[in-house]
Amino acid sequence: HKRVAVMISGRGSNLGALISASMASDYPCRIVGVVSDRLDAAGLQLAADYDIETHVVERKDHADRAAHEDAIQAVLETMRPDMVCLAGYMRLLSGDFVSRWMGSMINIHPSLLPSFTGLDTHQRVLSHQVRLHGCSVHFVTEGMDEGPLIAQAAVPVLPDDDADSLAARVLKAEHKLYPSALRLVAEGKVRITDSGTVLFRDYPEADGDA
Ligand code: GAR
Repeated sequence: HKRVAVMISGRGSNLGALISASMASDYPCRIVGVVSDRLDAAGLQLAADYDIETHVVERKDHADRAAHEDAIQAVLETMRPDMVCLAGYMRLLSGDFVSRWMGSMINIHPSLLPSFTGLDTHQRVLSHQVRLHGCSVHFVTEGMDEGPLIAQAAVPVLPDDDADSLAARVLKAEHKLYPSALRLVAEGKVRITDSGTVLFRDYPEADGDA
C-alpha cells in the first residue's frame, strides 16, 4: 500500500471520501495522517474518528510562509508518506514546497480546469452561464490550480441552480473522482514526466461514469 497524507483547511468531505475508499482491501492506499492549517477544520474530527493521526500547523504561529511550510514539511516527513493529497487545502504552496513533492502531490479543484481557477467557482460558473461544470484532479505545480490534469468529471448546470445546489452536485462528483484519481497515480497508471506533461498507462476504459 502507498502511504498517503492529506492536507485540509476545512470540512474534510473529500478527506472522508478518500478514507472510505481506502477501507476497501483492494484499494492501493492507506491514509496515514492529516495536516490542517486551521484548528477549527471539521475534517480533523473526522480523521480522529477513524484513528488517523492529525496535526494542526497554523500560519499565525509562524513568522512567514517559508517557516509555515517548513513546519508542515517536518510534520509530513514524520508520516513518511508516498503521496500527499490536498483536499480543500486553501493556501497557495511555494515552488520550494511543491518541488519537494513534484509528481506525488495531487489536488482536487471544483471546476473543469483550466476554466475557473481560484475561489468561488460555482458562483462564477453561474455568472458565465456555462452549461457544464465539474471537478478536476491534477498534479500540484507552483501555479495555482495549474498542474497537469489527471482526471475530470462533468456535471450539468441546471436552470434552477444556485451556487449551493451546484456545489452539492459537484461535490458528489468530487467524492467519486478523487479516490479514482488517487488510485490511478498510486498504481503508477499516470505520472508526471520531467517536462511536466502527464503520461497514462493502461488507462481504464471510459464507462461514462467517472
Ligand atoms: C472542495 O469542493 C474542493 O474541491 C475545494 O474546496 C472544497 C473542500 O471541501 N477546493 C478548492 O477550492 C481548492 N482550490 P471538503 O473540505 O469538504 O473536501
